[in-house]
Amino acid sequence: MGLFERLLRRKKRPPPFVWEPTMPVLTVPLDEMDADGRRRDVPYLLPKDEQEDHRLGYQHFLLRQVLAEHCFAPVHEVLRKGGKVLDVGCGTGIWGREIARAYAQTHLIGFDLEEVPSPTPAPRNTQFVQGNLLTGFPFAAQSFDDVHQRLVVAAIPLASWPWVVGELRRVTPAGGWMELVEMGTAFHRMGPASRQFLQGWSAISASRGMDASYLSQLGLLLKHAGLSNIRAETRTIPVGKWGGRIGKLLAQAMLAGWPSMRPLAHALLGVAPEAFNEVMGRLEVEWNSYHTSYEVYVACGQVAGKK
Ligand SMILES: C[S@@+](CC[C@H](N)C(=O)[O-])C[C@H]1O[C@@H](n2cnc3c(N)ncnc32)[C@H](O)[C@@H]1O
Repeated sequence: MGLFERLLRRKKRPPPFVWEPTMPVLTVPLDEMDADGRRRDVPYLLPKDEQEDHRLGYQHFLLRQVLAEHCFAPVHEVLRKGGKVLDVGCGTGIWGREIARAYAQTHLIGFDLEEVPSPTPAPRNTQFVQGNLLTGFPFAAQSFDDVHQRLVVAAIPLASWPWVVGELRRVTPAGGWMELVEMGTAFHRMGPASRQFLQGWSAISASRGMDASYLSQLGLLLKHAGLSNIRAETRTIPVGKWGGRIGKLLAQAMLAGWPSMRPLAHALLGVAPEAFNEVMGRLEVEWNSYHTSYEVYVACGQVAGKK
């Protein structure tokens, strides 16, 4: 049995979230550069460099197709008339720029630990603010009509999720909406190579106090935070060219993102880079022969009461 197989065996579905809005657990930066030359001096699990920005670009494009609309929450009218939107962990700022362009009356603030790259000037109704989500926002209570947070799975330790959602809620007034989009660890018809990668990813995440398997419970998380009118959905999408255009896009995003775990698998789990590469090399054929698919989670909820 290989090292990957001996790693943590995951339960199929995690038990429900334990709601403990204690102070958040902070994460610490890894090395400045990893063995593959990717920038790692950030307190989260993915590299932070141009290559990652590029991956985020087509992942955004993929999610646009999967979710069909920019916003899952029913905020179209509010934004059309002119609201305030906060995009948490905004990355390249691509979602926020598109919102700002689509809703000229709305003011968009993108918040991220890192400076947001600006290949083209942002729309005038856009502002980017740098800060750490895990130490709280530099914004007054009830400042935003819509708070959007997407794909911060590799940034928030499991024990910090309730606190983080509490902080999102703090800046949302009565009547305002919060929406979360995440990708977890649930695959259907998974073959051995995907399983091996996933076991390694889970063990690396666990070493940082993270557990993406809980992200299937976003709706429950919003419920515990006291939100109402909660709507939560799971979109199951194909991985690989057997699944057409969407499947190809998701496979591309995974094949661009997953190899960034190689130095961590080596440093934290002792997996030789050659063994890691061998697993990566089997993924594409396997997805197509098993017809593998993957779950994406989306949830929204409203702060109770009238504005
Ligand atoms: C995977 S990217 C997602 C970016 C964007 N939401 C998207 O969907 O394209 C996660 C982002 O979260 C940011 N991030 C990580 N830890 C953070 C923290 N503690 N506070 C604020 N932002 C953080 C990273 O810098 C990165 O830009």
